[in-house]
Amino acid sequence: MSVPSRPKAEVLSPEQKASLVTGASFWETRALPEAGVRGLLLTDGPHGLRLQVGEADHLGAHASVPATCFPPAVTLAASFDPDLAERVGGALGGEARSHGVDVLLGPGINIKRSPLCGRNFEYYSEDPLLSGVLGAAWVRGLQSQGVGASVKHFAANNQETDRLRSSSDVDPRALREIYLRAFERVVREAAPATVMCSYNRINGVYASEDPWLLTRVLREEWGYEGVVVSDWGAVGDRVRSLRAGLDLEMPASARSVSAVNVALCEGALDESVLDSSVDRILALVRKTEGAALAPVDLEEHHALAQEVAARGIVLLKNDDDLLPLRPDQQLAVIGEFARTPRYQGAGSSLVNPTRLDCVLDLLRGATPAVDVPFAAGFSLDDADAAAEEALLREAVAVARTAEVVLLMLGLPPAAESEGRDRMHLSLPRAQLRVLAAVREVCDHVVVAVSNGGVVDLSFGEDVPALLECWLGGQAGAAGLLDVLYGRVNPSGRLAETVPLRLEDTPSYLDFPGELGHTRYGEGVHVGYRWYDGRRLGVRYPFGHGLSYTHFSYRDLEVRAGAQRVTVSFTLTNTGPVAGREVAQVYASLPLSVVRRAPRELRGFASVELESGESRRIEIAVDRGELAYWDHRIDAWIVEGGDYSVEVGASSRDIRLSATLAITGDPVRIPLSLDSTLGEVLPDPLIGERVRHELDGFLAQFDELTLQGLLSLPVGRVATFPGVDSTPERVAALLAEANAAHSGPR
Ligand code: BGC
Repeated sequence: MSVPSRPKAEVLSPEQKASLVTGASFWETRALPEAGVRGLLLTDGPHGLRLQVGEADHLGAHASVPATCFPPAVTLAASFDPDLAERVGGALGGEARSHGVDVLLGPGINIKRSPLCGRNFEYYSEDPLLSGVLGAAWVRGLQSQGVGASVKHFAANNQETDRLRSSSDVDPRALREIYLRAFERVVREAAPATVMCSYNRINGVYASEDPWLLTRVLREEWGYEGVVVSDWGAVGDRVRSLRAGLDLEMPASARSVSAVNVALCEGALDESVLDSSVDRILALVRKTEGAALAPVDLEEHHALAQEVAARGIVLLKNDDDLLPLRPDQQLAVIGEFARTPRYQGAGSSLVNPTRLDCVLDLLRGATPAVDVPFAAGFSLDDADAAAEEALLREAVAVARTAEVVLLMLGLPPAAESEGRDRMHLSLPRAQLRVLAAVREVCDHVVVAVSNGGVVDLSFGEDVPALLECWLGGQAGAAGLLDVLYGRVNPSGRLAETVPLRLEDTPSYLDFPGELGHTRYGEGVHVGYRWYDGRRLGVRYPFGHGLSYTHFSYRDLEVRAGAQRVTVSFTLTNTGPVAGREVAQVYASLPLSVVRRAPRELRGFASVELESGESRRIEIAVDRGELAYWDHRIDAWIVEGGDYSVEVGASSRDIRLSATLAITGDPVRIPLSLDSTLGEVLPDPLIGERVRHELDGFLAQFDELTLQGLLSLPVGRVATFPGVDSTPERVAALLAEANAAHSGPR
């Protein structure tokens, strides 16, 4: 057989094709050297390379080659900065390429439905706009290096409990407006080389076998042309998943290959279905080939990891400007995390870092060298009571001598991992005891907390300065010191709400579900949408974060164009030092046909300003961003009306607001026998004729009584005694109206 150098499915035998749509090993796809087809190498992701050269697994159990461990998505998200996300993507692409990796398995853009989800550290936000904008930027950066992305986990994979079977039961509005929206943005704006389908079921159907999800929505509506790959082990029925649109199953499965061959022979699988998947895989092979294995500068990547770590730190509290610290202040450091950093989460994303900074070494090694008293305070394993007591006493003794204490708290590594959800939000009791004891003897306590998922921050009420560091990656310690000493002015913002109590969280009664189903009972009211809608107090609101300077907002102007709304305002740095502000635009429609949150993030900008500097900021919001999903007609609808447009420094620190009139899209719901008199009679084309058909019933009522009957479906009225018509005759009129009104909506 003569094979062209760039084969397409049509020149391959059915057996060759069947062997291509399922992996050849844990991380590779099948090579067909006789047909000139190279195998692809895929590997985790997302915040560093987890390239395994020895034993392979998808839970981080076996070793991987050293790679830069960037801060995970939770930390990057707090920057609210797509440019930074794009640079991280680019650096990851460089490292992947230098090892010959074709596809890096990220970004993870699932919505944080509950703070308890064990994998929240791998995801960006509770908000779909922020998740989508950052995810798209990251993909652009990665793919600029010739490495394919794998946006995951598609879709509605918002918990770890029973993740391979559980059904996420979500209503259509919530699915479209919250859970699919970030994926839609990344697909449309950044064309990821692959989309990874999730393990779970959605409304009863496995994502890997769902033609609605993988073909109708992803390809037909969003125009996706890349490869759909399974999450590792997500395929149950390979033939069914192929038909649904799942191109590549991972990892290898001899059983699947033979199932596809049998289905082809028996005529149960149309060969053209297989051809489409094979063509998409071959296109990916071509797209990723030829990029040179250029070496990367790991020092530069470490510096970028440090920059991201600092940018991701959220200054939650800073009473009496305790921070930044002055070099001449006598500092003591307490907390095991100062020498055993908590810097990434566990599971498939676990990176073997090229190096690892720790606070204590950096402080002690500073030039000029500083004497920094240290006490571990607590242990990360379960220490017995006597050992715990001894650690506590030592911490108090160290704290007594210090002018300022840096207390490093956080979730121990075992507390959060892929594969498990958390049960509560608390920090370990031993850590809280140390905090209380240290506060007794020192007024100036700065708490730096490291965690991948939100924790109960009620202890912060009792400390003057609180920094949420998330997970800092391999240079997290250096990033923290940059913020503590003011070399970096903190600008991180909360990409998720910190609640007062777990019981307040939107999914509290429906997480992690029961009997194989998780009901997304809160609907579209996820994250701040919920707390605002229910007017609940929160510990720290979405979008919140302090700075060492202050910003003022003025002169809001809001203009509606045909395609977009332009929001502009003047931002001034009114404080003593240069800094970065994350200005946020929220919008809502108070009088809407659907229940909307009081405000939804519709745009944001991260802006750096010198002290005293002012700048006119312009944020464009696509008109489509204002739409709701109308499940009656399966379409996005921009409703007409007076929208509230708000600009603020957080979702609960709104500085400017305006009302903007928007002309809506026409919505026409096709008429049917279920349509009511109230919906049919006003129709200019057939209303009068329908009234005439139903006159035998309607004529007996005066107009006022008739008003009370408008909710009757016309199909029912057509069968009432006295009516000299039939449902069929009425249906014919309705069809005439539908035909006349159809056309572009
Ligand atoms: C995870 C994916 C990961 C894959 C490969 C799965 O268990 O859900 O995110 O990319 O393993 O390691």
